[in-house]
Amino acid sequence: MKKTSISSRLSVMFVLCSVLMLSVYGLYLRSSLDDSLTKQMHNELEFRANLIAPWVSSRASPEAWKRLDNKLTNLVEAEGGRVKYWIFDADSTVLLGDNSLSDASQIPSTSGFTRTPSDSELSSDRYLYTTFTSFDGENTTLRFVVSIDSTAYVGTLNEFTRTLILISILGISLVALLGFAISRMGMRPVQRLSSQAEKLEAGNYDQRLDTTNLPNELQALAASFNGVLDRQKVAWQQLESFNADVAHELRTPLTNMIGQTQFGLSHKHDIAELEEILGSNLEELERMTSIVNDMLFMSHAQAGERATQTSDVSLKKEALKTVEYIEPLLEERALDVEIKGDAIACIDCRLFHRALANLLGNSVRYANPKSTILVSITMDASDVFVSVSNEGEPIDPTHLNRLFERFYRVDSSRGDSRTHHGLGLSIVKAVALMHKGDVFATSRDGVNTFGLTLSINHPNQMENSILTKK
Ligand SMILES: Nc1ncnc2c1ncn2[C@@H]1O[C@H](COP(=O)(O)OP(=O)(O)OP(=O)(O)O)[C@@H](O)[C@H]1O
Ligand SMILES: [Mg+2]
Repeated sequence: MKKTSISSRLSVMFVLCSVLMLSVYGLYLRSSLDDSLTKQMHNELEFRANLIAPWVSSRASPEAWKRLDNKLTNLVEAEGGRVKYWIFDADSTVLLGDNSLSDASQIPSTSGFTRTPSDSELSSDRYLYTTFTSFDGENTTLRFVVSIDSTAYVGTLNEFTRTLILISILGISLVALLGFAISRMGMRPVQRLSSQAEKLEAGNYDQRLDTTNLPNELQALAASFNGVLDRQKVAWQQLESFNADVAHELRTPLTNMIGQTQFGLSHKHDIAELEEILGSNLEELERMTSIVNDMLFMSHAQAGERATQTSDVSLKKEALKTVEYIEPLLEERALDVEIKGDAIACIDCRLFHRALANLLGNSVRYANPKSTILVSITMDASDVFVSVSNEGEPIDPTHLNRLFERFYRVDSSRGDSRTHHGLGLSIVKAVALMHKGDVFATSRDGVNTFGLTLSINHPNQMENSILTKK
């Protein structure tokens, strides 16, 4: 579709409005003038009819009739033939007047005012006709007709119409021009705003649109735009720190590998030593592969990938399997696990195990020794909630909100940072996303709880999932 500017659209709308208004107004004026001209002709005819009527009524003798004939002829001549008179008898025979109105039967028999009788050639004439009785001894019914040439009136009306059309065209053109100019003026703040936006430099995340002096209508737009820039800044900062984190996490294993390889090449080593170097390098490579795989997994979830291999399972049963898997770690720290509640939900078991293993793995690391880790499974109308709680050091709220970010750790200087990269909770979040769910974390009364929700209604879940609460 062809794009048109708002200014030209507005000016077209102005023009349409003025065409409508002027047409209505013009038609009204024209019809008023037409009415008043017709009334004027009517009055003129009435005046003449009233003047002559006594003469016709009192026709009593042939002399009087003759005098009337002369009078009418004089009157017609005096007005240059503009006004004409006829008198017909009851048989429509012309008694007085010329032959231009030969067929009196076309004139209505009652009294009235009419346009030209339909088949008359005197198309522009108006007629006034009256019927009255002549007291000539026989009470003869006569029809008296007066006509007036309406050419002058029609000319006035046509002239007025032409002037009206001309004025309307001029008015509409003026409205179009002014409408365009006014809307251009009105759109100026938009143009200023867009040129401001154009000047925003790539990479400078502190620039904002200047909202002072903007009209009210644009304030909200500019504020929303600035809001987008704020969010872009946060996203950009996250991306920057993410890049730095990735580089940092990969640099350590790479440095180790380079150091070990250089050491291996610097001297002659026996096979056992070389095997040890290769083994250590393999470990570093495996660590790097695991980081890269985790990041790929999360980017797929972020891009909207959903869990596909779903089936109806008891979450309690699946949780028990995961607990079995980490049994040795639990024994090592003399920890217990209790699973409360259950729900049958349609989930991807592999992803669920992965998320729960990460949550349990963290709890095992951070729980107070000899305490009990609680796995709780609850549900509401739309979601299943799976949480893992353990007694441990309280977590500061500033950290709590960021722990699900990639590579974020409360204390990255901890000794285990070589094997723990701060990706576990981000993977839990990715699993929640793939089930159209979310994550949550609380730290209250010495108990830290981390968990995820799994939406009952996510597209890949079977609608008839039976969910029970125990
Ligand atoms: N149960 C918990 N108690 C206290 N702190 C926790 C708990 N779970 C997670 N954390 C904090 O959240 C951080 C991020 O956890 P996350 O699982 O993402 O990474 P990680 O365990 O350090 O490394 P990875 O999971 O990649 O091995 C942890 O480093 C820790 O500081
Ligand atoms: Mg972890």
